[in-house]
Amino acid sequence: MDEHRARLERAERFLDEAKKAAAEGRYRQRWHFMPQAGWMNDPNGLIFFKGEYHLFYQFNPYAPVWGAMHWGHATSPDLVHWNHLPIALAPSEPYDDFERGGCFSGSAVDDGGRLTLIYTGTAESGGSSVQTQCLASSGNGIDFWKYSGNPVIGHFPADGSADFRDPKVWKHDGSWYAVIGSSQDGRGKALLYRSADLKAWEYRGVLAQSDGDLGTMWECPDIFPIGDKYVLMFSPMGLGDRKTVYLVGDLDYGTGKFHRETMGEVDWGCEYYAPQTLADGSGRRIVLGWQNGWDWMPWWRDFGPTREEGWCGSLAMPRTVELEGDGRLAFSPAKELESLRGNRLHLEDFSYGASGRELEAGDGKSFELEVEFDRSGTTAETVGLMLRCSEKHRTLVLLDLKNRELVFDRSASGRQAGGVRRCRAELKGGTVSLRVFVDSCSVEVFTDGGRTVMSNNIYPDDGDTGIRLVCGGGGARVKSLRCWELGPSR
Ligand code: FRU
Repeated sequence: MDEHRARLERAERFLDEAKKAAAEGRYRQRWHFMPQAGWMNDPNGLIFFKGEYHLFYQFNPYAPVWGAMHWGHATSPDLVHWNHLPIALAPSEPYDDFERGGCFSGSAVDDGGRLTLIYTGTAESGGSSVQTQCLASSGNGIDFWKYSGNPVIGHFPADGSADFRDPKVWKHDGSWYAVIGSSQDGRGKALLYRSADLKAWEYRGVLAQSDGDLGTMWECPDIFPIGDKYVLMFSPMGLGDRKTVYLVGDLDYGTGKFHRETMGEVDWGCEYYAPQTLADGSGRRIVLGWQNGWDWMPWWRDFGPTREEGWCGSLAMPRTVELEGDGRLAFSPAKELESLRGNRLHLEDFSYGASGRELEAGDGKSFELEVEFDRSGTTAETVGLMLRCSEKHRTLVLLDLKNRELVFDRSASGRQAGGVRRCRAELKGGTVSLRVFVDSCSVEVFTDGGRTVMSNNIYPDDGDTGIRLVCGGGGARVKSLRCWELGPSR
């Protein structure tokens, strides 16, 4: 047996035991994708292939902490219900076999019926990591074989640096193109390559870069057409609260340059990173992000409360991406999520004051809630929701109407409480809406019709199940409120 197969089998045997131990964890997500056990980070290789959605992900099956990266694999008919498949890639070769490296992020394409993965092999040489781009492919969509000519891009170009990773590949006019994240002199970059066969690659230059305003290194770049424009998304390092940036503009295939026109945030949350998109058969552009982040878990920390349960990391819900008239993007929950809806509550036209109003949704741990506030009947400066609350704990999601901000306060959420995150919000019009999606340990918030989004994790106690409408500095008037219990999806 070759070394790759041997490594995959060993990882599967380990996972078989680990998943039994992790199955009962109380923070396990009910309707978001998460690994059976172990660690996950970035979504990789998203593709709609032969009628199914394929999801690969950065995976350490051996422990609920980051480590030698494998590619986990799952498929779904609807982006909501996922089937776990055998691990697709394991570190095994001189170019990807490294405890603090492995098979790093990348993408998937349909190469004449073969499901083909392009990933970053991260190996070690003289104490530092060496990143190259590699291929693996499969005839049955399950078993992947690494290409014997790997790496297919063996060195970073003069415009880049040793940070040279996360290839996203697409086809245009009969040629393959790859955008790869890199950096130089403290500026994040997206580098462009072209190939006729995925094996021999020609460097085409810097597609786009930071002018000093957009971070020091661009991880996980993704570029895709939308309407008559292109969107470039990436996860910048060194840009404070801004973890997932998008640029909308034009891509000139002749010069290999992207010209940006507008800019925004895919998600303002503390825990949303490395999003990747795919186009599916219905013409939609779907984005999936890792519902976690690096900031709160540097190596010397403990990787958070779910570690005790034998897992760490999940994906945020699938969202559609749409381009609006002013060049900004709007993100909406994929409609397939509606299949998870259970008992419903619907209220219309009512007011409440400083004492708030109690609500009920399922067991208070897994639900969707949308509330539309009527500005003309509202005197309050802040309106919103208190979630997962009890005498001891609470999580606040607020629209600050005065300062035009979305505010997420998890300073009293429970374990690993994480302070307050704010971002600017438009909050225009006669009504403003707040839409929240709650799962065992995550909250995703949409406002401004999906133009402002924020995702954060919380770790409340089992008994923290209260939900309340709240307001501050006056009274609030609600035009409509709809709420469903959600899930589970397995
Ligand atoms: C982003 C990232 C990628 C890298 C991967 C390693 O979260 O740092 O740049 O390929 O994670 O797991």
